[in-house]
Amino acid sequence: MKVLGIESSCDETGVALVDAAGEGVPQLLAQALHSQVDMHQAYGGVVPELASRDHIRRVLPLTRQVLADAGCSLRDIDLVAYTRGPGLAGALLVGAGVAVALAEALGRPTLGVHHLEGHLLSPFLSADPPQFPFIALLVSGGHTQLMRVDAVGCYALLGETIDDAAGEAFDKSAKLLGLGYPGGPALSALARQGRADAFVLPRPLLHKPNLDFSFAGLKTAVAVRLAQLGAPRSDAQRADMAASVQAAIIDVLCAKSLRALQASGLSRLVVAGGVGANASLRQRLDEDCRRIGARVHYPEPALCTDNGAMIALAAAMRWQRGLGEGERSGAFDVRPRWDLAQIS
Ligand code: KG4
Ligand code: ZN
Repeated sequence: MKVLGIESSCDETGVALVDAAGEGVPQLLAQALHSQVDMHQAYGGVVPELASRDHIRRVLPLTRQVLADAGCSLRDIDLVAYTRGPGLAGALLVGAGVAVALAEALGRPTLGVHHLEGHLLSPFLSADPPQFPFIALLVSGGHTQLMRVDAVGCYALLGETIDDAAGEAFDKSAKLLGLGYPGGPALSALARQGRADAFVLPRPLLHKPNLDFSFAGLKTAVAVRLAQLGAPRSDAQRADMAASVQAAIIDVLCAKSLRALQASGLSRLVVAGGVGANASLRQRLDEDCRRIGARVHYPEPALCTDNGAMIALAAAMRWQRGLGEGERSGAFDVRPRWDLAQIS
């Protein structure tokens, strides 16, 4: 069964085709992605209206490219999946509208997927897929959550950020350091040349026994320390600050992930979402988990950030388990705000 997946929740248009045979893990046949980063860079962040318009321009050419790369035609598609939420309302509507129109024309069902479910199932497309149950650390630009995952559709929220997401902490600190958007990759590159113990920065909620996070104070601390340094700041000072911020974020993410593993008695951790691409975070999680006899599973680096493959995969895995019957009404809704723990 071939599932086309369309992702358009934010600033990446992603389209992919997966093949789900029997009960095995679906296989990725082809995928294509267009990142809008260059377009939004001039504004220092995502401009929702520009994002929606660009999704309109990209989604059909990307779909044609995916079908050509997979050696398939529109008629081969059995199910059309799209990101129903959470995300930018206008951007979501583009993907949903195209998916439902395409499905109507082909006489096929549609399935609206939760964006974060896509992220947390994405390691199933890697060479080292996890087994259920596991703890998932979801770290993206908009979310920081720890979840217990017992099966597809069985998600229990253990803790989440009470203010900024980890990706936001990277992005906002990067902005304060004069780095471009998105700041995560730029900040982590600069951090390689700096000393992580150069600046003493807060590790919010580190010693609270719960599994919640808070990153807003970290950004404020960075702003205060940079103001104290005055301008101009040397390259070494900027690199030291980048390394210190990254270390603070990683310390908290690792400590809470380990606490979730130990409290649940589980020994598998899945890390998903854009911040999961961070090499220092991966290294530290690998080391810490090895120490307690746990294993960490990641998506392929190209599938850490937003993409269509994870949406096609999540839809196929739901379908295989009878969790998404698919809709044939030709109607659709999007859910800009949508709690993952509420879906089943
Ligand atoms: O999952 P994602 O692509 O989009 C959302 O659903 O939000 O995550 C984007 C976030 C951004 O905040 C970006 O700065 C961060 O992931 N990110 C990174 C890295 N690559 C992307 N943060 C730290 N280190 C990276 N290498
Ligand atoms: Zn995402």
